[in-house]
Amino acid sequence: MIIIGNTRISDDYFILECKDSQPLPCIKPGQFAHLKVESNPSVFLRRPFSIHDCNYEKNTISFLIKIVGNGSATLSQLRENEVVSIVYPLGNGFSDEAAAEGKSLLIGGGVGIAPIFFLAKELKQNKFDYDVLLGGKKVSDLLCYNQLKQFCSVFCTTEDGSEGTRGFVTDHEIMRNISRYDRIFCCGPTPMMKAVGKKACDNGIFCEVSLENKMACGFGVCLCCVTPTNEGNRCICTDGPVFNINELKW
Ligand SMILES: Cc1cc2nc3c(=O)[nH]c(=O)nc-3n(C[C@H](O)[C@H](O)[C@H](O)COP(=O)(O)OP(=O)(O)OC[C@H]3O[C@@H](n4cnc5c(N)ncnc54)[C@H](O)[C@@H]3O)c2cc1C
Ligand code: FES
Repeated sequence: MIIIGNTRISDDYFILECKDSQPLPCIKPGQFAHLKVESNPSVFLRRPFSIHDCNYEKNTISFLIKIVGNGSATLSQLRENEVVSIVYPLGNGFSDEAAAEGKSLLIGGGVGIAPIFFLAKELKQNKFDYDVLLGGKKVSDLLCYNQLKQFCSVFCTTEDGSEGTRGFVTDHEIMRNISRYDRIFCCGPTPMMKAVGKKACDNGIFCEVSLENKMACGFGVCLCCVTPTNEGNRCICTDGPVFNINELKW
């Protein structure tokens, strides 16, 4: 694919927009792509990133990426018109339960907001009812907050209190009235997803989480991404990354 945009949104995060020469396949929110880091020989494995947005008319997909190491730092240097090898779409994505009657709560923590933003856009386009809850350490971690505010109802928490409720997403007042939601979709740090999952379980609410285990092959062969489930170990690259919390041995 050809890079058509690489926008630094803060010291730590950037958005990479890529154009395919072929028409895009159908992509579900929660699916991911495996990006080759071509210009850095020390990074030989592809890196997985959630699809953050897609535009079927322009044939583009974008990624919201946090710079954490060599691979992501190298990708942050890509310029317009450079070519990047991307295998996509991979994984299962959030289930069609998102499109059922009733109200959903979409929860994103840090860069976990990447697939949650895509899900929010899709639900909006299809006129489904939902709220979004974002969590971050500080206000600059509330990625896409302003964009989301333009088209949906969005709440937030920050650990330092610089925006919204001080604390974790589970400290927000809407979590005290959680039973007004019919289902929850969540992506973020594992402790956050475990806390949200417990809250959902305690209240008998359908809940899906998108896991971000480390990956190597990305197609179910190396088994380095497995997570324990009630049906034994399952690969998050092929059976996930989205799981119902009732399937997970948390
Ligand atoms: C299905 C899936 C979707 C993802 N979506 C996104 C996304 O939309 N945006 C985004 O920025 N990142 C996402 N990630 C995480 C991303 O793949 C890693 O941050 C990236 O591979 C790190 O590569 P690196 O070479 O920069 O860092 P490395 O040098 O490989 O690692 C640097 C540091 O990051 C940690 N790290 C590496 N991989 C992960 C991981 N999977 N989860 C948590 N910590 C990790 C390492 O332990 C190490 O401390 C996703 C991961 C998965 C499995
Ligand atoms: S990354 Fe190799 S099996 Fe999942």
